[in-house]
Amino acid sequence: MGRIILTGDRPTGKLHLGHYVGSLRNRVLLQEEGNYDRFFVFIADVQALTDNADNPEKVRQNVIEVALDYLSAGLDPSKVTIFVQSQIPQLHEMTQFFSNLVTVQRLQRNPTVKAEMALRGFNADAEEENRRGLPVGFFTYPISQAADICAFKSTTVPVGEDQEPMIEQCREIVRSFNGTYNCDVLVEPQILLPSNKVCRRLPGTDGKAKMSKSLGNCIYLSDTPEDVKKKVMGMFTDPGHLKVEDPGKVEGNTVFTYLDAFSEEADFAQFWPDYANLQEVKDHYTRGGLGDVKCKKFLLNVLNARLEPIRARRAEYEKDIPEVYNILKKGSEAAREVAAQTLWEMKEAMKINYFDDAALIAAQSAKYSK
Ligand code: TRP
Repeated sequence: MGRIILTGDRPTGKLHLGHYVGSLRNRVLLQEEGNYDRFFVFIADVQALTDNADNPEKVRQNVIEVALDYLSAGLDPSKVTIFVQSQIPQLHEMTQFFSNLVTVQRLQRNPTVKAEMALRGFNADAEEENRRGLPVGFFTYPISQAADICAFKSTTVPVGEDQEPMIEQCREIVRSFNGTYNCDVLVEPQILLPSNKVCRRLPGTDGKAKMSKSLGNCIYLSDTPEDVKKKVMGMFTDPGHLKVEDPGKVEGNTVFTYLDAFSEEADFAQFWPDYANLQEVKDHYTRGGLGDVKCKKFLLNVLNARLEPIRARRAEYEKDIPEVYNILKKGSEAAREVAAQTLWEMKEAMKINYFDDAALIAAQSAKYSK
């Protein structure tokens, strides 16, 4: 069994630096390493609709945004199959079959679903006041996500740590399917987390736990240098570090968290030759005598060094949007073929392949000809 990598994103907004260090950068590295048989990256528009059913225009606009973010981050459509979830009808058939193997109680225990329900005001008890009812499609999206993974027999799923419960639930579904139908059609996937811990959950520019569109604390991959400058200069640091001479705190200081996530040894020689590495900067800041503005200026240089090639590729792809749609269309066609093969094997294992099974037809004829 080879290595099959798959991952995706909901098209509910442009991708930001949290997505970049949490997953996107890793995908490009995996692509360059070339250690895989197939590599799929997809835009999860069906999942986005589970809590945006009344706002399809938002999803539609963000499909192209996310596609541009992928391509500009360096995903290469000749190496990675990029597709759109809604264009693979087999996924929805699989979801239906999987839903017979999952209990409501198990879904209610999924910590990511729980947290997201609370965030959106969805409550299973619709009687309660000031609560929105819980859409069935939203509640069951972990099942649909298992189909996304299983359809391609994915072995490796590079995602952020918030997705861990989804992968665990998918593994259970695989075991249940293979066990129930006495087959080995489906493959248990492994999660692949970023090795650098700070990258698993990048805080927002305001220092809040997570970079998130609804909190307004994001730096987007598509931000202009001016946007990034404004955001970096306004970043949360150490509120106790009032004067330059004061000793400063590095832990919980967003500028240093970002430097941990983004800076490379070579950046010091290029942008800040006073220091050989990040540890020296941290030591100076902790001792006192190093101002926030200097650190922010360095971070700005580092971020722009990472974002510049991304901006350049984006500008090229923006000139040919029909080609971007064409990449998604071709990727979706290729993905459909793989999913159809897996679905066929599933149906065979589930004994619902009535018309392709000559032995079944012969046995039934024998039974009725007696
Ligand atoms: N739930 C993921 C997110 O919110 C998107 C997603 C859908 C996904 N299906 C997937 C990720 C399958 C990995 C594998 O970002």
